[in-house]
Amino acid sequence: MAVYFLVKGKQKTEGKIIINGAKNSAVALLPAALLTEETVKIDNLPQITDIDKLLNIIRLLGASVSSPGDHSLSINGANVNSFSPSGLLVNQLRASYYLMGSLLGRFGRVEIPMPGGCDLGPRPIDQHIKGFSAMGAKVEMDHGLMKVFAKELRGAHIYLDLVSVGATINIMLAAVKAEGKTIIENAAREPEIVDVANFLNAMGAQVRGAGTDVIKIKGVKKLHAVEYSVIPDRIEAGTFMIAAAATGGDLVVEGVIPKHLEPVTAKLKEVGVEVETGPDYLRVVGREKISPCDVKTFPYPGFPTDLQPHMVVLLTKAPGISLVTENVFERRFCHIDELRKMGAQITLEGRTAIIEGGSELSSASLKAMDLRGGAAFIIAALMANGETVINDVKYIDRGYERIEERFQEVGVSVQRIEEK
Ligand code: UD1
Repeated sequence: MAVYFLVKGKQKTEGKIIINGAKNSAVALLPAALLTEETVKIDNLPQITDIDKLLNIIRLLGASVSSPGDHSLSINGANVNSFSPSGLLVNQLRASYYLMGSLLGRFGRVEIPMPGGCDLGPRPIDQHIKGFSAMGAKVEMDHGLMKVFAKELRGAHIYLDLVSVGATINIMLAAVKAEGKTIIENAAREPEIVDVANFLNAMGAQVRGAGTDVIKIKGVKKLHAVEYSVIPDRIEAGTFMIAAAATGGDLVVEGVIPKHLEPVTAKLKEVGVEVETGPDYLRVVGREKISPCDVKTFPYPGFPTDLQPHMVVLLTKAPGISLVTENVFERRFCHIDELRKMGAQITLEGRTAIIEGGSELSSASLKAMDLRGGAAFIIAALMANGETVINDVKYIDRGYERIEERFQEVGVSVQRIEEK
């Protein structure tokens, strides 16, 4: 069955939107829940397909998972009896790599194929492995299956060669129940890392320094039950902020932690968009005309790579030249070719997109190729003349909860069409 979005152009996002829980935090909290035999309740979980897939993997490992209520569910990992997650499912999402840290932490053993996920260029996991090895684990590759095992995981001093969200969290998961102290230097500082550390600490772990580039973890014998609420999704929030800026709308993005969105707020102000910051909301008032600007993606607190495609779309509206440089992923520019179909004047030089903005986008038939790029196409379609079709919405559904309904809430027409 073909499923696509049909988006009416020349529409403004207006009103108010309440932001869901953070995907990139939630996908780490579920595997982390397996570190205890007691029941863990997680609230404010986004209802996205990456979470559905992860829950299926966790169920197959033997955990019992309550049927999801309104954005909350309980997991009990007492009966987890396998350290070998289903290869077929693991291949479908990147975040399945967190099962390495959690199963290694729980059983001292995990067998798992390389994780899947969006194609953003090479996505090695050497830093995860470096961390596990430093803690005394042996790592072997056997016909595409990675086998990691340790008689006893011991705390270690680990210096990451590069800043990696996944490696930082994975090492934390392996270390919370290891013998002795682990220090992660050059750790990533993303808010989702702080959220995972808070979750683990609420279960009785001793993690200090999350949110800085040195994280210290003192291993404990046992973790216990917890009820925990996921932080708001700064990328979903940023998506709607940029949509308001791009469509000249007036939108209140509510239920956010404004500090997490400072890099986005700063760029929107730089191009001339008005952003009002409240205690838990951001109001974005777009303008007909905006100025060009340069954007460079970096690990937090730099401008997030996950909002790079959206920013490229916004800057097609700014008369003049804007440069967008992607420093985090090597090949995160597959949205550019599709945007060219809409008449966007963009050339690529290495890791930099050169955008000659100012001319109107026209409708086209597009194909989503990754999660964030796909969402950015919705913004482009709202700016364009005419009706745009976005195919392969399965990529968008991985990380945005019913995005078409969310856009409808803010007054624009994005329809999901299911063709038999
Ligand atoms: C996570 C996020 C993703 C976000 C990215 C950067 C999740 C599930 N995904 O992905 O949405 O875009 O952070 O903010 O949270 N690298 C290595 N070796 C490693 C690990 C990473 O070379 O062992 C490289 C990667 O290829 C990439 C860079 O380091 O170029 C950053 O990757 P990393 O922060 O690990 O991203 P992910 O955890 O995959």
